[in-house]
Amino acid sequence: GGSSARDQQNTKKSSAKETGVDVWPSGEAHDHMTFCVFGASGDLAKKKIYPSLLALFYEGRLPKSFSVFGYARSKMTSEEFRERIRMSLGCRIDAKENCDEFMEEFLKRCEYVHGNYDEGADFEKLDQEMLKTEEGKKAMRVFYLSIPPSIFVPVAQMSSRYVQSKTGETRVIVEKPFGRDLESSRALTKALAAELSEKQTYRIDHYLGKELIENLTVLRFSNIMFQPLWNRNYIRNVQINFSENFGTEGRGGYFDNYGIIRDIMQNHLLQIMALFAMEEPASLDAEDIRDEKVKVIRSIRDIDIDNVVLGQYKGKTSGSNVFPAYLDDETVPKGSNCATFAAIALFIDNARWDGVPFLMKAGKALHKRGCEIRIQFRHAPGNIYADKKSKPISRGGGGTAGDSSNAQCNELVIRIQPDEAIYLKINNKVPGLGHKMDRSILDLTYKSKYSVGELPDAYERLILDVIHGDKRLFIRNDELEAAWKLFTPLLETIESENIPPELYPYGSRGPIGAHYLASRWNVRWG
Ligand code: NDP
Ligand code: BG6
Repeated sequence: GGSSARDQQNTKKSSAKETGVDVWPSGEAHDHMTFCVFGASGDLAKKKIYPSLLALFYEGRLPKSFSVFGYARSKMTSEEFRERIRMSLGCRIDAKENCDEFMEEFLKRCEYVHGNYDEGADFEKLDQEMLKTEEGKKAMRVFYLSIPPSIFVPVAQMSSRYVQSKTGETRVIVEKPFGRDLESSRALTKALAAELSEKQTYRIDHYLGKELIENLTVLRFSNIMFQPLWNRNYIRNVQINFSENFGTEGRGGYFDNYGIIRDIMQNHLLQIMALFAMEEPASLDAEDIRDEKVKVIRSIRDIDIDNVVLGQYKGKTSGSNVFPAYLDDETVPKGSNCATFAAIALFIDNARWDGVPFLMKAGKALHKRGCEIRIQFRHAPGNIYADKKSKPISRGGGGTAGDSSNAQCNELVIRIQPDEAIYLKINNKVPGLGHKMDRSILDLTYKSKYSVGELPDAYERLILDVIHGDKRLFIRNDELEAAWKLFTPLLETIESENIPPELYPYGSRGPIGAHYLASRWNVRWG
């Protein structure tokens, strides 16, 4: 007997109306969820929030009773809004699946209200509309502030005054950027705290919702083989690399006010570094994890400007293709020195990491899109196979370009995206009667190991965590403060001295200076 996976899927597919959970994992006694996206007419709502909600619905992860509101100034009826988001919704779970029925059922629960972001009467109208869908149930309300930071505070004020749930909890998701520096971030934290408690506030860093970042603590703390190696005695250097093969197309106006350090490093890459380097938390409890992250961020040494390389992409013509320079973007001020690339050597002054360079690199308009952590281990001491002349070791399987000493070091790579993988480079004898050695790879490539289809989008995981009241993957206010304390002096130096970035061609590997920086610390970029 027993039904096949396909049967189960068909059963699931045919029951869009019944999908959903009855019991709230956080144990709170809610029996409805009202989710509201402020800035619903915008890019993030369309690209990430609505598709993630649909995917959660499809997977049966949303509460049985829920409604989704979009709020923005743009004038539209709910019907027009549904038409608009229908276009951006797809079936993430499996492109071959037909999830039309789910989509229609989902769209039925979507409403749109237009109004200003600082008008009490408009928010009262929103509250009335929400109450209609809640039908007297005990409702949790989740608000997603998918709006520019300039209006975070008025929207937090209005929503806390007029649309907080009267029958259950209200939780508010805040998008980055959380300020531009220590001072503005403190001011924002203070202004938001006047309206929302820390418990209600979910500061999102979507990198924390990525599968391999979630897995980092599993890898570190549940494998005895990594535990003893995870320190200065065995690890020679760590790289955290982020690259995109497109420029700031269309977002130049936003970007110029922030630059790559604020856009990517102060949040996404620093979060990865903290999870990579922190001590083992007392438990998986959100506060225990965040305590350890704050501690390690505070142990990072002040950044020396000599350990920083800045770059900006210039245009490139290749055949008939013209790739624009950053400065060609009309929304970018003429002659801007804003960095679209940065490489930084960081050091953690604690017993575990003393002297180990952590090289962070992030850039737009580079040769490829990707994000990975590369851990280069020390040489095996007294290695009897180290004599390269008599026992040649060739480069195998996409290894690091290396001199003779580099070629034999183990390297662990955690590829966050694309094509998620964890692989370990080891030295291995080529099978056969000879004595040739090779650099081989122990390879855990997700798509060949796990047949789970496409992995959930980071936003899916994070939205689900908010519904569950799980704050492990959200940024606590002291963490944010520590992150800004680290980067603000550097940003002030760069901006007050108006340091010019080194130009690099669109689609290249970035400025040469980054290679000099790495070689100063005896590192080769992966
Ligand atoms: P948008 O610029 O698209 O803004 C969202 C909506 O806010 C707009 O549709 C508009 O709606 C309203 N709005 C825009 N500018 C103003 C303004 N000056 N005053 C009042 N309302 C305004 O933002 P995104 O959707 O791209 O992003 C939302 C938030 O998420 C931002 O904080 C952004 O930094 C952050 N973010 C975005 C990412 C992305 O990929 N897009 C990635 C990571 C973070 P209307 O006019 O209808 O009211
Ligand atoms: C955002 C940045 O936070 O992350 C963008 O503002 C960047 O500039 C994006 O493109 C990258 O996210 P992902 O998930 O596509 O790697």
